[in-house]
Formats: sequence, structure tokens, C-alpha cells
Amino acid sequence: MPYTNAVIQETMRITPLFPAGVPHVTSEDYNLGGYSIAKGTVVVSMTVAIHNDPDIWADPQVFLPERFLTADGSRNINHEAFFPFGVGKRACPGKHLAKHNLFIFVSSIFQRFSLSVGNSSGKVNLNPKQISSTLAPTPQELVFTPRSIPD
Ligand code: HEM
Repeated sequence: MPYTNAVIQETMRITPLFPAGVPHVTSEDYNLGGYSIAKGTVVVSMTVAIHNDPDIWADPQVFLPERFLTADGSRNINHEAFFPFGVGKRACPGKHLAKHNLFIFVSSIFQRFSLSVGNSSGKVNLNPKQISSTLAPTPQELVFTPRSIPD
């Protein structure tokens, strides 16, 4: 279960659903790390840039679920620089519902099916496509082979 969660987290790290978060407007003048931000400025948290910042993540373009696991693999790790659901007061209120559903969805598929690539190249296209302000997967040709589940 921790590994499944780590795979979901790593997927959301590399390609967050909202690559630039959701825009906000400052309600007062603010100084952030020496930068003056005037009241009324539109600010975006570039989630995809922070999630792929090499100063924070080693080999950020490598898909490595182990980043989200303790050394013995028994527990998941939280990273401060990982925020696919936003941060602060306006962070996603559906976060826990979404996380639970993602876990059930992903684990149900892998419990019941072995997946393989259904085209001759043997490769899947992991580059997402942008739809408005969200990233979505590109269509894939996959074969779902039912697994025998013990009674
Ligand atoms: C994988 C699934 C989801 C992702 C990645 C996601 C991500 C986000 C992000 C990044 C924001 C903007 C946070 C910010 O402004 O800083 C947001 C806002 C929001 N999300 Fe989600 N979300 C997901 C699922 C859901 C679900 C299942 C619900 C409701 C059942 C939901 C309801 C909302 C609402 C109402 C807001 C606006 C909150 C506000 O502006 O105060 N989201 N979400």
C-alpha cells in the first residue's frame, strides 16, 4: 500500500493536474523573500516548476516512487515542496477524497489486471497534454489482462 501511494504521489509530482496551480490575487501589499508584491497582483504558484526543481529533487525527470518512501519502504514520506492540491487557506478541500479515490482506483486496477503496452513500439507516451489550465494524459494503447485472484 505505501508503494502504491508513492506511485500516485510521484505521478502527481512529475505532472501535477494544475501545473501552475490556481491564480490568486494579493489582498494587501506584501514582501516575499525580498520581492515586493503590490496589492491586487495576480500570483501563481508554479507547481510543475517546483515539483521538477533539481535543487529540491534529485533527477527530477526520473520517475522514482521511492522518493515518497522511507528507506525500508514501510511508510510514505511527506515533502514540503510537494503540493499538487495547493497550499494555505485556499488549498483543495477535496484533497482527502481525491487521494482516497485515486488509491482505490489504482489499486483496484492493478489487483485485477496485468497491464502491458498494446502497440508494436512497446512504449507509452508519458507526455501530458494541456487542456486549459490542467494537464491530462495522452491516449494510450494498453492491454488489460485479467489476473487470477485467489478466493
Ligand atoms: C486529483 C484530484 C484533485 C486535484 C489535483 C485538485 C487540485 C486542486 C488545486 C491545485 C486547487 C487550487 C488550490 C489553490 O488555490 O491554491 C484546488 C481547489 C479546489 N478543489 Fe481540488 N483537486 C482535486 C480534486 C478535488 C475534489 C475531488 C474536489 C471536491 C470534491 C475538489 C474541490 C476543490 C474546490 C472546491 C477548490 C477551490 C477551493 C477554494 O478556492 O477555496 N477538488 N484543487
